[in-house]
Amino acid sequence: MREQGLSNVWRLAWLLCLVIATSLAQTALVCPSHSEIAPCYCSVKKSGLDIVCESTDLTHITKAMAVLKGRPNLMIFYLRLRHNNLPKLQGYVFLGLDIRHLTIHNSSLAVLEESSLSSLGTGLTQLDLSQNSLNSVPSHALKDLHHLLILNLNRNKITAIHGRAFEGLDTLEILTLYENKISTIEADAFKGLDNRRLKRLNLGGNELTRIPTQALSSLELLKKLEMQENRIATIKEGDFEGLKALDSLGLAHNHLREVPAHVFSHLTQLNSLELDGNQITHVDANAFIGLEGKCINQKLIRFYFNRLSSFRAILFILSPFCSFTFRVDNPLICDCDLRWYPAWLANLRDKDDEMMSKKRTVCTMPMEHREYSVQNIPLERMGCAGKNAGKFSSSATGCRVYVDATLPLIVLTAAIV
Ligand SMILES: *[C@@H]1O[C@H](CO)[C@@H](O)[C@H](O)[C@H]1NC(C)=O
Repeated sequence: MREQGLSNVWRLAWLLCLVIATSLAQTALVCPSHSEIAPCYCSVKKSGLDIVCESTDLTHITKAMAVLKGRPNLMIFYLRLRHNNLPKLQGYVFLGLDIRHLTIHNSSLAVLEESSLSSLGTGLTQLDLSQNSLNSVPSHALKDLHHLLILNLNRNKITAIHGRAFEGLDTLEILTLYENKISTIEADAFKGLDNRRLKRLNLGGNELTRIPTQALSSLELLKKLEMQENRIATIKEGDFEGLKALDSLGLAHNHLREVPAHVFSHLTQLNSLELDGNQITHVDANAFIGLEGKCINQKLIRFYFNRLSSFRAILFILSPFCSFTFRVDNPLICDCDLRWYPAWLANLRDKDDEMMSKKRTVCTMPMEHREYSVQNIPLERMGCAGKNAGKFSSSATGCRVYVDATLPLIVLTAAIV
């Protein structure tokens, strides 16, 4: 009898524990009332709380944070501070909070005190500091974020990436620095990141004039490198040495005039290459050496060229690959180099493809001041007789070529410079 009573007591105690534990767990998923954290607002998401503070200042944000700090076991899945006046992030502002994704966007942020983010080191996986006024990478504030996977520093005013700027970010996989004013990347800029983790790097929309080869060379598992919209005027052999795992390279909208021999030869895993919006007038016959065999993978390789004065270069480009998209936005001059084109087109396996039939590739005949469809260029009047025509037709038969339908294949306006 007595033993029965004792076991009942234990059972009761156990139940009580359970109730307490459950209610504790629940507090973590209950928002403070709006009046407590106004002008911020809070909603409950499956994985935690989502708190947004917009168009306010540090005083109000600090107050709201103080309320949140008063709740034990709170898991803030998203804290989004947007369109605020927040020029400086104070030390310890988030101390005691468990935040997984932090956004401070369009808030005039220029200074992060060293201890402003360090308390988030064990939980923060995404940090978005885009569209602010940072003029350098806030390395001191970032160095303790040992679980960060994604760092977004887009649209700031960063002019240079100094050595070891990301030291401590041992788990970082994605780093984006799009639309800053970066013209200098020091040789050891990415040292101190665990270089075996970084998969994607976006350096687009900056002021780079050359490939930062030394800084990049340690990123041996990088899959995607974006350097579009810079001022890169030349690329050369060896520039991409070390990027053994690179799958995708974006060099669109730079100032490239030439694709020299062997320039991509280290990129044995490359499957996507974007070169549109450049002023490429010369592609070396060996420019794409090292990228052969892509036919096996049937992956997409995209080529775009601007101001490419003749299709001769494309002959070189086409032959090593069996599957790719190309688009030419060039002013084309009708010349004997184009003779292969009609034969090649006729040979396409997918010539009935709806996309293909919409295409009308044209070139300009300067002497006559008129355009011709490339299929119908008046070869006999161009003095091309006797030269080896149709060179391409046979080698093209085994290949599939996808022609991008989003733009006219050839946009033809002016003569060549
Ligand atoms: C950025 O924030 C300001 C307020 O500080 C706001 O007026 C402006 O519209 C915001 N810009 C964008 C693009 O949201």
